[in-house]
Amino acid sequence: MGLCKKLLIGDGITALITLILCLSLGLTVVSRNITSTFFSRCEKFNEYDCQKLWDAFQQAYVNKDPCKVPVEAYDPLIAAAPFKHQCNKTMFWSKTKDVVHGLTAKRNDCFVTLEDTLLGSVLDNLTWCGKEGSNDTFTTGCPGWSECVNNPVRSFWNRSSAAFADVACGNVTAMLNGSINTPFNPTSNFASVEVPRFKASRVKKLNVVMVIQKNAISNCNHSSLKELEANMTKRSITYTCKDVSESRIQECGSKPEIACGACW
Ligand SMILES: *[C@@H]1O[C@H](CO)[C@@H](O)[C@H](O)[C@H]1NC(C)=O
Ligand SMILES: *[C@@H]1O[C@H](CO)[C@@H](O)[C@H](O)[C@H]1NC(C)=O
Ligand SMILES: *[C@@H]1O[C@H](CO)[C@@H](O)[C@H](O)[C@H]1NC(C)=O
Ligand SMILES: *[C@@H]1O[C@H](CO)[C@@H](O)[C@H](O)[C@H]1NC(C)=O
Ligand SMILES: *[C@@H]1O[C@H](CO)[C@@H](O)[C@H](O)[C@H]1NC(C)=O
Ligand SMILES: *[C@@H]1O[C@H](CO)[C@@H](O)[C@H](O)[C@H]1NC(C)=O
Ligand SMILES: *[C@@H]1O[C@H](CO)[C@@H](O)[C@H](O)[C@H]1NC(C)=O
Ligand SMILES: *[C@@H]1O[C@H](CO)[C@@H](O)[C@H](O)[C@H]1NC(C)=O
Ligand SMILES: *[C@@H]1O[C@H](CO)[C@@H](O)[C@H](O)[C@H]1NC(C)=O
Repeated sequence: MGLCKKLLIGDGITALITLILCLSLGLTVVSRNITSTFFSRCEKFNEYDCQKLWDAFQQAYVNKDPCKVPVEAYDPLIAAAPFKHQCNKTMFWSKTKDVVHGLTAKRNDCFVTLEDTLLGSVLDNLTWCGKEGSNDTFTTGCPGWSECVNNPVRSFWNRSSAAFADVACGNVTAMLNGSINTPFNPTSNFASVEVPRFKASRVKKLNVVMVIQKNAISNCNHSSLKELEANMTKRSITYTCKDVSESRIQECGSKPEIACGACW
């Protein structure tokens, strides 16, 4: 790219040609970037054919209008790297991402989130999309989470969290945020995608952990949680909810001697 900067100080036509050349070079660099991130994260799992997964990933959105990628576009990717049953370990979260991952990073013997699985960790924090008439993957200029519903990133998280919830069994845990107005928000991925997929034949119990900070404004008594409880009861899934301070959860991460779930 240094060469590009130097060449740009030429006459008009040369500069124009160089500009076009450098722009396409820039795009290639961007796309190689997400490719290498994908492969380096994937290879850590040492378990799957990463090239096969990359191909299945790309076919979901490449050469498509980035506002017309339905959740089903990722079916082949999910089929290529199916989620394993993690009985009693499945951990869901809504608006508590950092504190949850702080915990699961230290207690992976106890809890597994979507972002701890192969597909979730490979695509965590990434943005991607395609364009009609191009086979490239772009990481800038992609539609945002709310710009259009059927965008490649949102559809991926929707599809993968549904598949993750499908295999949940035994005791499942969910960490919700007590510092917001509606901890169990009907528009969240947890409420709209994951909860409806719980199979009553497999999920025995839902343990909600309400993360309470100094500025907490909600707790387990919040009306939205009463709705969640009613929903679980209707489906014969036992429900519990406990208010736990954020500092207590951080402590639990550094106390491997305490049994899973017994820390709060
Ligand atoms: C792309 O590469 C640049 C520089 O090498 C790096 O700073 C950036 O984080 C990368 N982006 C992604 C999405 O990997
Ligand atoms: C999950 O927990 C239940 C209740 O403690 C137990 O009966 C079951 O064997 C556990 N399942 C697994 C796979 O650990
Ligand atoms: C809960 O949400 C608030 C407001 O968005 C945020 O500042 C806080 O970090 C969240 N708490 C946790 C535990 O993630
Ligand atoms: C995603 O970002 C968070 C911090 O914002 C970081 O802790 C986490 O490691 C990132 N995930 C991956 C897979 O790099
Ligand atoms: C995209 O890839 C397909 C299949 O590999 C190929 O037939 C097509 O020509 C490519 N299109 C562009 C614009 O490169
Ligand atoms: C499942 O939940 C019950 C009741 O809270 C608890 O006693 C048991 O230890 C849990 N099992 C596992 C494996 O976490
Ligand atoms: C997830 O996808 C389903 C089915 O397409 C849709 O009804 C739902 O609104 C989506 N939820 C989110 C949070 O994107
Ligand atoms: C309650 O569960 C059903 C599935 O049995 C689901 O369709 C519905 O949206 C849920 N309601 C709430 C408020 O979560
Ligand atoms: C929740 O509501 C019950 C009954 O209304 C009350 O006894 C309890 O103190 C409340 N808990 C909190 C933490 O507000």
